[in-house]
Amino acid sequence: MAQKVVILGSTNVDRFLTVERYAKPGETLHVEEGQHNYGGGKGANQAIATARMQAETTFISKVGQDGIADFMFEGFEAAGMNTDYILKSDSADTGQAFITVDAEGHNMIYVYGGANMTITPEDVEAAASVIQEADYIVAQLEVPVPAIIRAFEIAREHGVTTILNPAPASTLSKELLTLIDVIIPNEFEAEILSGIPVEDDASMKQNAEYFLDLGIQVVLITLGERGTYYATKDTSGLVEAYQVKVVDTTAAGDTFIGAFVSRFDRNAMNLEEAIDFANKAASYTVQKSGAQISIPWLDDIQ
Ligand code: RIB
Repeated sequence: MAQKVVILGSTNVDRFLTVERYAKPGETLHVEEGQHNYGGGKGANQAIATARMQAETTFISKVGQDGIADFMFEGFEAAGMNTDYILKSDSADTGQAFITVDAEGHNMIYVYGGANMTITPEDVEAAASVIQEADYIVAQLEVPVPAIIRAFEIAREHGVTTILNPAPASTLSKELLTLIDVIIPNEFEAEILSGIPVEDDASMKQNAEYFLDLGIQVVLITLGERGTYYATKDTSGLVEAYQVKVVDTTAAGDTFIGAFVSRFDRNAMNLEEAIDFANKAASYTVQKSGAQISIPWLDDIQ
């Protein structure tokens, strides 16, 4: 049976530029290709990935009245997700991200939150019935923390597993940390939260222990081309990534999360299998440019 997943998060239009290398401060560089607009936002990307992996997906988000995100709705609907809880702000524009990708596939991203930052606990409350019926709720940090806290409180009251991707990196209040069942940071985000740099196996373990000691049950630290480290109170290990030619890493982490949640069975704790599936999905995303445009469908992976 398909997992029921609610994603609470951002919708951005990604203004995307490919560069040979990054300019130094004060330097001007020519680019070969003009700017592209792609569907993006960590929340929207994760919702697209979850839905394309055929989980029953509802996306809670907010856009502006400007219509610049309208093209994304076709993608949301094609993936089969429930868009009933994507609201329109009266006061703010749709979020935007300004992304440059260099010849090695590395990216730099500046995000203007816009309507995403106007999501309130009351907006979340209006989606309470769908949260209560879900198996999992997933959030990231491109929407206001009070909205995430309210969503996770509703989830906790109804036995729904809460998953936080603490991106972009930020410190978090104890109030939110104690509402998390599964945390999925990358190395940098893990360090910002724990204060422990991820430098080797020992420091990775210390990071995981920091989160487990807070009561979080499952910790996944994504390590890019190396793969994913996982830890629970009973087990830990590394699931290696698939080695492919990287064109652009944008949305690779989002694909990983969407694919993981579509497969993870909290009761069976099929962690390694779900992580391997998610690594495989992310390996598709890095081979293409752009965010939602590069996220695979289940058929691609099978
Ligand atoms: O994780 C990638 C996403 O981060 C991009 O799509 C961009 O919108 C930013 O939110």
